[in-house]
Amino acid sequence: MIIPVLLAGGSGNRLWPLSRELYPKQCINLTDPNQTLIQQTLERVRLCGIDASPVVVCNNDHRFLIAQQMLELGICGTIMLEPAARNTAAAIALAAFEVRRENPDASLLVLPADHLIAQAERFSEVVATAHARAAANELVTFGIAPSYPETGYGYIEAHHFGQVSPIKAFHEKPALETATGYVKAGNCYWNSGMFMFTPEAYLSELQRFQPAVYQAVEQAMAERYTDLDFVRVGEDAFSQSPAISIDNGIMELTHRGTVVPYHGDWSDIGSWQSVYDHLDKDADGNVVVGDVLVEDVQDSLIRSNSRLVTAVGVSNLAIIDTHDALLVMSRENSQAVKTIVARLKERG
Ligand code: GDD
Ligand code: MG
Repeated sequence: MIIPVLLAGGSGNRLWPLSRELYPKQCINLTDPNQTLIQQTLERVRLCGIDASPVVVCNNDHRFLIAQQMLELGICGTIMLEPAARNTAAAIALAAFEVRRENPDASLLVLPADHLIAQAERFSEVVATAHARAAANELVTFGIAPSYPETGYGYIEAHHFGQVSPIKAFHEKPALETATGYVKAGNCYWNSGMFMFTPEAYLSELQRFQPAVYQAVEQAMAERYTDLDFVRVGEDAFSQSPAISIDNGIMELTHRGTVVPYHGDWSDIGSWQSVYDHLDKDADGNVVVGDVLVEDVQDSLIRSNSRLVTAVGVSNLAIIDTHDALLVMSRENSQAVKTIVARLKERG
C-alpha cells in the first residue's frame, strides 16, 4: 500500500504578489486556470492509481483553504496541523507516526504540494520501482539529470548513474563551484524533493540522526487529538523540535539511501522565471494571463488577476498585478522577489 504524504507548509515568497502568507503558492492557480498546485499534485497521485487517502501536513493558518481544495476534488484525507513550522524532517515525522498507527507496512510517498509534473504516466512507473525499494527498508529519492548547476537543489551522487542505485553521497544545496563540479562529474542527479520509505525506515533513521526531532514529534503525537476534520498535536512538545530539513537531517547522513532516476518533466515551480518557462508562449515569446493588452512586447510574462493591464515597447519583463500590489521586474531577476518580501515584512 502506498500512502501519499503532501508537504504543504511553504509560503512561496518568490511568487509574491500572487502568493501570500495566507494564500500560499500551493493553493493558487499558477499554471492551470482550473487547478491549484496542490490539486494538481492530488490529481497526479490519483492518476498513478494510488487510491489510499492522502496525509497532508500543513500550517494551521492554511487549514480551511486546503480542506476546501481537497473537497473540490472529492478527496478526503488526513490534514495534520503543525503548531509551528519546524521544517521537513519534523513535518514528515508527523505523517510517519500517524501512518504507523494503522498501516505500519505502507510506504509513504512524500511529495511537495507545489511541484509541477506534466507526465503522470512516467511518474507512475518510477513510483512502482521506488515502492519495491521502499518496501525493502530503503530511503528512496527520485533523481533528475541536472541541466545546469542550480544551487537551490540537493545533489545525489550515485554509485551507478542511470539506474536504480544506492546513494554514494547526498549534498544539500552546494555552492556554485561545487554544483558545477557535480554537473560535470556525470554521476550526480538533482534531488527532486520527493521521497519514498516505510514509516519505520524513516523513523528509525530520524531517531538515529536527529534524536531531538524524533523525541519532540513522538511527544507531540502522544498528545494527538482531532479537531473537526483536522489532526492536532501537542504544541509545546512539537515546538521543541529543531528546525531541520529531511535533506540536511537525514539524507546527507543515512547509509540506506537509494536513488531512482526520473526522466520525465519536473519543476520546482519556485519563481516567476520558472512559471514563464513552463507555460506556452505566443509568437512574440509572451505569456499573458487575464485581461492583458500588449503592443511591441517580447519575451514577457504578464498576468492580471482582475483589472486591465497594458504594456508597450518592453521586453523580458514579468508584470504581475493583483488587487493590492503590482510587481514589475526583469524576468531574470526573479530570485530577488524574496528580498522585496523581506523588506515588506520589515515595514510591517
Ligand atoms: N508541512 C511543512 N512544514 N511543509 C514544509 C515545511 C514545513 O515546515 N518546510 C517546507 N515544506 C514544504 C514546502 O512547501 C515544499 O513543498 C517542500 O516542503 C520542500 O521545501 P522547500 O523549502 O521548497 O525546499 P527546497 O525547495 O528549498 O529544497 C528541497 O527541494 C528541492 C527540489 O525542489 C530539497 O529537498 C532539495 O534537496 C531539492 O533539490
Ligand atoms: Mg521548493
